[in-house]
Amino acid sequence: MSMATSSYFNCWIIFGLAVAMIVAPLAEARAFFVFGDSLVDSGNNNYLATTARADAPPYGIDYPTRRPTGRFSNGLNIPDIISEQIGQSQPPLPYLNPELTGQKLFVGANFASAGIGILNDTGIQFINIIRMFRQLEYFEEYQHRVQAFIGEQKTRQLVNKALVLITVGGNDFVNNYYLVPFSARSRQFSLPDYVKYLISEYRKLLMRLYKLGARRVLVTGTGPMGCVPAELAMRSTNGGCSAELQRAAALYNPQLVQMLQGLNREIGKNVFIAANTQQMHMDFISDPQAYGFTTSKIACCGQGPNNGLGLCTVLSNLCPDRDHYAFWDPFHPSEKANRITVQQIMSGSTQYMTPMNLSTLLALDSFTN
Ligand SMILES: *[C@@H]1O[C@H](CO)[C@@H](O)[C@H](O)[C@H]1NC(C)=O
Ligand SMILES: *[C@@H]1O[C@H](CO)[C@@H](O)[C@H](O)[C@H]1NC(C)=O
Repeated sequence: MSMATSSYFNCWIIFGLAVAMIVAPLAEARAFFVFGDSLVDSGNNNYLATTARADAPPYGIDYPTRRPTGRFSNGLNIPDIISEQIGQSQPPLPYLNPELTGQKLFVGANFASAGIGILNDTGIQFINIIRMFRQLEYFEEYQHRVQAFIGEQKTRQLVNKALVLITVGGNDFVNNYYLVPFSARSRQFSLPDYVKYLISEYRKLLMRLYKLGARRVLVTGTGPMGCVPAELAMRSTNGGCSAELQRAAALYNPQLVQMLQGLNREIGKNVFIAANTQQMHMDFISDPQAYGFTTSKIACCGQGPNNGLGLCTVLSNLCPDRDHYAFWDPFHPSEKANRITVQQIMSGSTQYMTPMNLSTLLALDSFTN
């Protein structure tokens, strides 16, 4: 072979490798596991006797089927959009969905349950919800079910290569410490001590997740909790965000990042990736127009001041165009806002993602897998 032809072939090999690296994650998407609260619940609570549910209209009004699914969104939620981004053709089903059997198990599973927190005593008013320790037990049970199909070693590989998302913590403030004046936790702890306690309990849960085989875990912080329409309606004194909940978010989020960095150092690998959801949401709260929203203070669906009181039901006010609202209901972002958040998770700078964004992580993994 002449020099010219051989370098011609080399070019094709390099080109082929580049194509393979781009296509591989699409052709054979990794599994995806989701843990946490209503921000990521895709319908587990539909199967439970609980008041924390989103299985009635107008939830799901912009979902492909135009029907409620249990997602706390007008359409897609953050796990749906991440699943899209990593090349899955279907997002993982809720773990309690009876259709989660056979081949569908290999896509992953969503263990999240609206109303839960880091602590067991968070969300007790919702009665029957899947608390964090139970979500992790279900993850273990899931692995046994997959082992029955592909054996122990392949199951471990599937779990090790999977992407994991965990979103929890907000309810430990709004549905525990600040749920009622003089709550048990607020009498037990000052806010800074409560935050320290939450972080130390969260660390244990994440360590358990690691021991169960998770190796790539996206961990979101809380949003700017004091600025959601519900808090603007209930606590705001001057039309601005609730100062107390903003103080809680400001204490909690940086300590969460530090804890994750500590875990990564201890493990010796970047297992835990922090997503600064506080900053991401703050961006469209401070300048909604820049993101195509007409407002970030009024929920699309609700009643009372800011549409921030009570639940979103068929009797609520409902905005005609959901894409113009940062908040779908008094607590949860619209699909449009979720898309912006996932965009930042994918390609945000280190101001948003620590130590790296998801596209960098996916590129790294396509080299090593
Ligand atoms: C939560 O409850 C479970 C089951 O009762 C228990 O095993 C676990 O230790 C509890 N977690 C905390 C932080 O108390
Ligand atoms: C994040 O992702 C984008 C797009 O893939 C990339 O160009 C950028 O350099 C990344 N940013 C950081 C800080 O890693």
